[in-house]
Amino acid sequence: MRTDFAPQRARANSQPVRGVRRAGRPSPRRPWLPSFSLALWLTLLPGLAPGRELGPEDLPPPQTSGGKPLMTALKQRRTLREFAATDLSAQELSDLLWAAFGINRPEEGRRTAPSAMNSQEIDLYIALERGLYVYQARPHRLRLVTAQDLRSKTSGQSFSNAPVVLILVADLARLEKAKPETRPFYAGFDAGCICQNIYLYCASTGLATVVHDLNRDPLALAMGLGPEQKIMFAQAVGHPANSAPGQRP
Ligand SMILES: Cc1cc2nc3c(=O)[nH]c(=O)nc-3n(C[C@H](O)[C@H](O)[C@H](O)COP(=O)(O)O)c2cc1C
Repeated sequence: MRTDFAPQRARANSQPVRGVRRAGRPSPRRPWLPSFSLALWLTLLPGLAPGRELGPEDLPPPQTSGGKPLMTALKQRRTLREFAATDLSAQELSDLLWAAFGINRPEEGRRTAPSAMNSQEIDLYIALERGLYVYQARPHRLRLVTAQDLRSKTSGQSFSNAPVVLILVADLARLEKAKPETRPFYAGFDAGCICQNIYLYCASTGLATVVHDLNRDPLALAMGLGPEQKIMFAQAVGHPANSAPGQRP
C-alpha cells in the first residue's frame, strides 16, 4: 500500500491551511487563476520549456540536493591552484552560482550567504572565455557585460587558465543604511561569506578553487564598473589538474 498518500488524505479531512489551495477544488472566486499561473510559468521559466536549448545567458535550474555532506566538505575544503583545461558544465556553473549567493528562500528573496542588513551588495561577475557576465540571482541567469575574455586581467598569478574566474564586486551604494566608514568592513565580511560558500561547494563536488588578490584598477576599468562598485577579490574555479570530469578525487 502506498503510504505516501496518507498525509494528503489526512489534510483533506482537516481544516484548510491558510494560503494552500486544496487539490481538485479550484476556487470559484478566482476563475482567472489557472490562466494566470500558466502565463507566469511561461514568463519565468523559459529555460525549462521542453526541447529549448540553453542560450549563453541561461542557466539550468540549480540542483539543490546531493553533494558531499557538510562535515565531509569542511574536512576537504582547501585551496587548489592547478586547473585542468576542462570547462565547467552548465549545470556545474549553475550550482556553483546558486551555492555562492543564490536565492534559497524565494518568497523573501534571501540568499545562501548572509549580508549586513540584508543589503545583498555583492555582485558575482563571471569571467569566461566567451565573455564577462554578471549573475542575476532572482531569475537565476547570466547577463552579458562584455564579450571580452577578461580572465587574464584577473590575476598576475597563474590562475587565469581556470575556466571560470568569479569576481566579487561590492556595490557600496546598497549599503546606504550603514555609516560610510563601516561600509568597507561589511562588504569585506559579506564577500568572505560568499567565498566560503564557493570553497564548500567546490569541496563538496571535487572542484578546485583559489581565492586571490588582483590588480583592481585596470580590471575595474575593463569591466566598466562605477565609482561605488569595488572589486573585493577574485576566485578561480575549475576541475583540478590531472583529473577528468567524472573522475574526481
Ligand atoms: C583574502 C584572501 C586573499 C588570498 N589571496 C591569495 C592570492 O593572492 N594568491 C594565492 O595563491 N592564494 C591566496 N589566498 C589563499 C590563501 O593563501 C589560502 O587560503 C591559505 O594559504 C590557506 O590555505 P587553505 O585555503 O588551503 O586552507 C587568499 C586567501 C584569502 C582569504
